[in-house]
Amino acid sequence: MVSAQDKSLVRKTFESERMDLDAFATAFYAKFFAACPEVRPLFSRDMTRQEEKLLAILTHVAEALDDSARLDAILRQQGEKHRKRDVSDAHFMGFITSFTGALSDTLGPDWSTEAELAWTRFLTFVAGKMNFAVQR
Ligand code: HEM
Repeated sequence: MVSAQDKSLVRKTFESERMDLDAFATAFYAKFFAACPEVRPLFSRDMTRQEEKLLAILTHVAEALDDSARLDAILRQQGEKHRKRDVSDAHFMGFITSFTGALSDTLGPDWSTEAELAWTRFLTFVAGKMNFAVQR
């Protein structure tokens, strides 16, 4: 379950005037590959398509925040796409800190500790629904 307050903070991130999704996606993967260099070879050299896919799924997820059946279906399908990827706790932690770090860089003064905590809880929920074997 995602609390109403966390949903609202997640939504606010997308609605910020400072939000620049393309810059965010590029910054996110740069941080993720710096934190977890061993995953770099699993991705294409040209990250354009991957960045587009990440932004597309984030948009779907944001649109489905108030429809838990739809959100579950989206995340189950994403989980299926990661089933054969060996996603460890460390990778997932690297994913979260890179994600919130890239949001912080992108949003500057529009980012806050509350937003970071809400996104961390939200991404942990997402990981659970994607069936990653992460500690919750
Ligand atoms: C909340 C967490 C995550 C989300 C929302 C997410 C999202 C995505 C999306 C949208 C794709 C594209 C799938 C497609 O082809 O349609 C993808 C692919 C992929 N993801 Fe994730 N991901 C997450 C976590 C991770 C983590 C922690 C790893 C760590 C290894 C990872 C590794 C990969 C790999 C290797 C691919 C395939 C890349 C390729 O085929 O070029 N993902 N992910």
